[in-house]
Amino acid sequence: MSPRDRARGLGRRDLLRATGIAVASAGVAALEGCSLLSPRTALRTVGEVPFATPLPIPPLATSTSHEGARVFELVARSGRSRIVPQGETDTWGLNGPLLGPTLRARRGETVRIDVRNELSETTTLHWHGMRLPAAADGGPHQPVAPGGTWSPTWTVDQPAATLWYHPHPHGETERHVYRGLGGMFLIDDDEEAALDLPRTYGVDDIPVIVQDKTFDDRGGLVETDRSDIGMLGDTVLVNGAAGPVLEVTAQRTRLRLLNASTARTYAFGLSDGRPFDLIASDGGLLAEPASLARLLLTPGERAEIVVTMDAGESVALRSFAHDLGLRERDAVLAGAHDELDVLLLRAAAALRPSAPVPLALAEPPRIDLAESAGTRAFSLGNNRINGQRMDMSRIDAEVVAGTVETWFVTNAHSQPHNFHIHDVQFVVAEIDGAAPPPELSGWKDTVYIPPGSAVRLGMRFGSHTDPHVPYMFHCHLLWHEDQGMMGQFLVVEG
Ligand code: C2O
Ligand code: CU
Ligand code: CU
Repeated sequence: MSPRDRARGLGRRDLLRATGIAVASAGVAALEGCSLLSPRTALRTVGEVPFATPLPIPPLATSTSHEGARVFELVARSGRSRIVPQGETDTWGLNGPLLGPTLRARRGETVRIDVRNELSETTTLHWHGMRLPAAADGGPHQPVAPGGTWSPTWTVDQPAATLWYHPHPHGETERHVYRGLGGMFLIDDDEEAALDLPRTYGVDDIPVIVQDKTFDDRGGLVETDRSDIGMLGDTVLVNGAAGPVLEVTAQRTRLRLLNASTARTYAFGLSDGRPFDLIASDGGLLAEPASLARLLLTPGERAEIVVTMDAGESVALRSFAHDLGLRERDAVLAGAHDELDVLLLRAAAALRPSAPVPLALAEPPRIDLAESAGTRAFSLGNNRINGQRMDMSRIDAEVVAGTVETWFVTNAHSQPHNFHIHDVQFVVAEIDGAAPPPELSGWKDTVYIPPGSAVRLGMRFGSHTDPHVPYMFHCHLLWHEDQGMMGQFLVVEG
């Protein structure tokens, strides 16, 4: 690259065009590092977002019952959405033009989901965080062709939790999620139901699906502006809406936060610095609530928090500048210095009283690493895991059903990566040899690993075996996943 190009601030795409290199993964890989040309500086929208759109609440999916199963129907299709005032854009959604309904089932129920693909390309639908048979998982091995229907079924067998669903076609996941496919999947159980927690859906129990997108000056979605970590948008949406306002009607409101962004990490907090109670992480309730002022969620992670408000006041949910353990240049590119308004919480003149958050929530997750059948080491590198790119025909690990294993995962790269595994909720036993903070003390399926750090994870594998169909593990920054930072494991009989 010439200094003149550098001065002109050519982006990667321009560069690719200028040099005639096809936009193929090999070409992009050869140009790693060129994103330092990006003129990106910290983005600051706090106090500037005109909060004027009532927060849309994804509808609860209706279901029918068939042979003892609760049956949902999800139809993937394209549509048009007006997300910003400048105009409409093409979007993808399930049962609507953008995002999808909230699925909800109880522990012990058998569910079947009829996924119909009315898009013009093959996609998949993955149930992130769910314990289920590999053939029902919705990863890259369960493609749904245009016009096709796929009907996975399984029995829900895990604690109450905020899970989600999203497409997972190999190499295309980032684009399919960015265009709008995804939604929440809530699991209920008796233990959670026995607690005095806010749980009226859409009233004091609110899904908060956070995504960042970029729009052109006619309101169209821009899906090309990518750095080494993927696409970072300049507009934050909640449940598909920009500038959202939630009219709060109870003293305590439970927010089910989902980072459904393809690459951006959020450090959630409230505008006046008041603490909130963290009650659940990816896989369900914590043993006890943790009072926090900030909560870091990397792509794919969820958390449930309870926010306490007084009548008549307003407070904004924001994302604050945060430390991902990156070099300065990479921190800027990853949006770590960004300060963003996310959602305005506006309390009514009179609020329904709410019980205080219970002091004990659930059994602490217990996985005894002394029982561990062994340790596997994984090193995250440049779009690779243990030096290898994802290969749909290669099995990277074979695990015996029902066993406990220790997975030791290192970020050996300068870039931010997290680690997500299908079918399993794990415990974070250690981060760089130390005990994890309260927000990582519960069940997790996705965990951030700063460059140079390592996590020791305790995993108990499920009882669903399949000698042929693998589950995935990968970085949930979807550009990295698409580029090959993903591996496959089988769960087999002992
Ligand atoms: Cu949420 Cu394999 O992904
Ligand atoms: Cu997943
Ligand atoms: Cu990554």
